[in-house]
Amino acid sequence: MLKPKPTQGDTSWFVQDRFGIFLHWGLYSLPARHEWVQSREELPPEAYRQYFERFNPIAYDPHQWARVARDAGMKYAVITTKHHEGFCLWDTQYTDYKVTNTPYGQDALRLFVEAFRAEGLRVGFYYSLLDWHHPDFLIDIYHPLRNHPEVAKLNVGRNMKRYAGYMRNQIRELLTQYGPIDILWCDFSYPDADYKGLPGKGRNDWESEKLLALVRELRPGIMMNNRLDLPVAQADFFTPEQVQPTEWYQINGEAVVWEACHTLSGSWGYHRDESTWKSPEQLIHLLIDSVACGGNLLMNVGPTPLGTFDPRAISALSVYGDWMKLHADGIYNCTQSAFKAPRDCRLTQNGKKLYVHIFAWPFRFLCLEKLAGKVAYAKFLHDGSEVLLTPPKWERAQMQVKDSTLVLTLPILKAEVVVPVIELTLK
Ligand code: GLC
Repeated sequence: MLKPKPTQGDTSWFVQDRFGIFLHWGLYSLPARHEWVQSREELPPEAYRQYFERFNPIAYDPHQWARVARDAGMKYAVITTKHHEGFCLWDTQYTDYKVTNTPYGQDALRLFVEAFRAEGLRVGFYYSLLDWHHPDFLIDIYHPLRNHPEVAKLNVGRNMKRYAGYMRNQIRELLTQYGPIDILWCDFSYPDADYKGLPGKGRNDWESEKLLALVRELRPGIMMNNRLDLPVAQADFFTPEQVQPTEWYQINGEAVVWEACHTLSGSWGYHRDESTWKSPEQLIHLLIDSVACGGNLLMNVGPTPLGTFDPRAISALSVYGDWMKLHADGIYNCTQSAFKAPRDCRLTQNGKKLYVHIFAWPFRFLCLEKLAGKVAYAKFLHDGSEVLLTPPKWERAQMQVKDSTLVLTLPILKAEVVVPVIELTLK
């Protein structure tokens, strides 16, 4: 079984918990047209300010969020403290562009952290390196003002050194005033993204070395992601986004700790009119596919401007909850197995427990190579019923499988669960 090299952060809990909730919540929830709306529609600051003046999530109840996430089987949460728009969800002393200056008036992040901890979930912070509001942030390829006729003039006097200092000040606040934060998720670097002579941004702009040193000093055990544009060995985990790896994620040929992040529909922020909501099968497959390749899944919800979860999000999360209630043993504490998965199946393993996740229901028999004689008992997770380890001789002979292949006998009908799982107890 693969085991990534240890890094500076503590990943031990993370590779056991396996499943988390990502939350993208900011001013962009009001227009409800994607969290990049300000950039996509090139909205100048004056036009975007209306959302700041109207941010008032009167139905915000983070305890409720935490319970919904926990019921879905999620063990940790990562929330956007600041997204690319620059709006801060906490009472920072370094800008006025913050939640406590909106009609809502309260430190939404503090309420969030307290609630999630109280409900038993770990807390991570997403922090955007991009900032389309900060006056020192140089206008570049993604900035809403990139096509402004006077862009060169607008960039005069902007100072990325000062901006890098601003980020360190904010990170210090976030890591010292909200209790022990487990993950810092910085997003993102684009050093080569040149736009009409406006350069992209990377480690020199963010002063990534200094930023990381500060993070490690303030909270040595924190897990840091890989988007600071630093040498890979400095990241504790890697974050493939909107794709599902089919092998253990590798960097320079070495297996690393990794977490796929996905959206329930096609946007991270609340998007009222986007309708590519994933099917129950896709949702469950993404989770199993991650763990079967030694990784985690961070599944996103974009709360509404009122501070609620959209009913479509609630129902997607309940798909996880229904399945996890009976199948969590095949997810928590599990990792990739060295055995080969049968056709249309995925394997996860936790010591002597091997889990066969059946994506497409086969006819009567399931063949597992190199497992004959090695299994003491087999059962379904959804009802605990035994799965016979030996098929009738006559059938086995006709199947022409190797002696070393274990042949499980299945019912003709698939049970009413999205993905049935067989637990094999190895001898
Ligand atoms: C991207 C996007 C962003 C989202 C993030 C999540 O980098 O810029 O909107 O927050 O991915 O992984």
